[in-house]
Amino acid sequence: MADKTAKLHLNGQNYDLPILSPTKGPNVLDIRKLYGQADVFTYDPGFTSTASCDSTITFIDGDKGELWYRGYPIEQLAAKSCYLEVCYLLLYGELPTEAQMDDFRARVTRHTMVHEQMHNFFRGFRRDAHPMATMVGVVGAMSAFYHDSTDVNDEWQREVAAIRLIAKLPTIAAMAYKYSIGQPFVYPQNDLDYASNFLNMCFSVPAEKYEVNPALARAMDRIFTLHADHEQNASTSTVRLAGSSGANPFACIAAGIACLWGPAHGGANQACLEMLREIGTVDRIPEYIAKAKDKSDPFKLMGFGHRVYKNFDPRATVMKESADEVLDLLGVGDNPTLQVAKELEKIALEDEYFIEKKLYPNVDFYSGIILEAMGFPTSMFTPIFALSRTVGWIAQWKEMIGDPQNKIGRPRQLYVGSDRRDYVDLKAR
Ligand code: SDX
Repeated sequence: MADKTAKLHLNGQNYDLPILSPTKGPNVLDIRKLYGQADVFTYDPGFTSTASCDSTITFIDGDKGELWYRGYPIEQLAAKSCYLEVCYLLLYGELPTEAQMDDFRARVTRHTMVHEQMHNFFRGFRRDAHPMATMVGVVGAMSAFYHDSTDVNDEWQREVAAIRLIAKLPTIAAMAYKYSIGQPFVYPQNDLDYASNFLNMCFSVPAEKYEVNPALARAMDRIFTLHADHEQNASTSTVRLAGSSGANPFACIAAGIACLWGPAHGGANQACLEMLREIGTVDRIPEYIAKAKDKSDPFKLMGFGHRVYKNFDPRATVMKESADEVLDLLGVGDNPTLQVAKELEKIALEDEYFIEKKLYPNVDFYSGIILEAMGFPTSMFTPIFALSRTVGWIAQWKEMIGDPQNKIGRPRQLYVGSDRRDYVDLKAR
């Protein structure tokens, strides 16, 4: 019979720490009363052993390589669902009926345009600005335009903000791309599905007709689905922490975009492709494997390793299949970058260091290869991750705001600075 309470013996006192049981995954020690009772903090920089909240949205088993959205395995959703249906599932907890899906799709479709004046925001940026910088700025600026969906205490306004964000992020990401290459913005087309609309806004030009390749649209949609949510990762935790102060949803999502940008997180897809290009040929792989193992060298194999997955990232498995399909479809199956990636994966997975450190390809390892083959520059890889993850961020934000126990996040610290000391006048120093 599993214990219901953990015993802590400290300074001659005994403390009972309740043990909370999950639907699945490790038990949780409830330490909410610990500081009040025992006058001690717990210490966990990077939160490697800390559950920051309870959630019903996404489950990850790092040892088994399992990822479920609302209980549905990611490989089933990637094969049988579509991103907009996954958005409904993440937001409302259940797969939609046909009528519910039609209504949801219609609501999202009607919000895909941005306020015309937001076009001016882009003109303030240099053309060579990284699209992530543009997205952080423009998404945060949505707070200045959509005042009727910023009151976090109004459930209807929370709902409208969620729909607006899911609908407008592809438009904003595409605008950031068009602005960076000096081409005119392309408006959303309501007769196109979500992924086709994004590809059209990115790759069509007013000067000629553009037909979206349905196979590429399906691959794009699958990439969106694979990135939609991932439990309490760094950017989701950022969104939750920002939201816990009552900040409006657009500001919270802008904070999530900023955090995702880092190369250790969502920026890894861009960094990974740049690394594969730098390696260049299969014969140079051992040199880079040695660098990754060299403690004095800060180089890490981008696209490898994960805080949670210590076996394999189920998303990387699906992404690898997709990479083969897309590159064959585009007639670039012998893509040298893909060959380096596959050989690097093979060598790394046989190397003692990577086996011992449990470093496997993660979601970012193959995604860049597909996106590059589709025609996106590396600078657009993380913006695509951001637009995909927006639904996960906003679903987690809604779950937190809707929780009556919700309170502002305010961690403490282990203070190791100077003890109290008195000011010394300049002349006396
Ligand atoms: C994402 O959290 C999420 O869910 C994120 C994400 C999501 O969907 O939201 O899955 C998306 O961010 C995927 C990860 C993308 N990042 C990268 O590919 C960048 C390269 N990976 C590393 O930076 C690293 O693996 C992390 C950041 C992903 C995980 O870091 P951890 O969990 O803090 O582990 P660690 O850095 O402590 O590494 C453990 C050991 C270390 O060696 P020791 O200090 O124990 O000797 O493994 C080594 C690290 O040096 N190591 C690597 C390595 N990753 C870890 N060595 C070489 N190459 C690597 N990639």
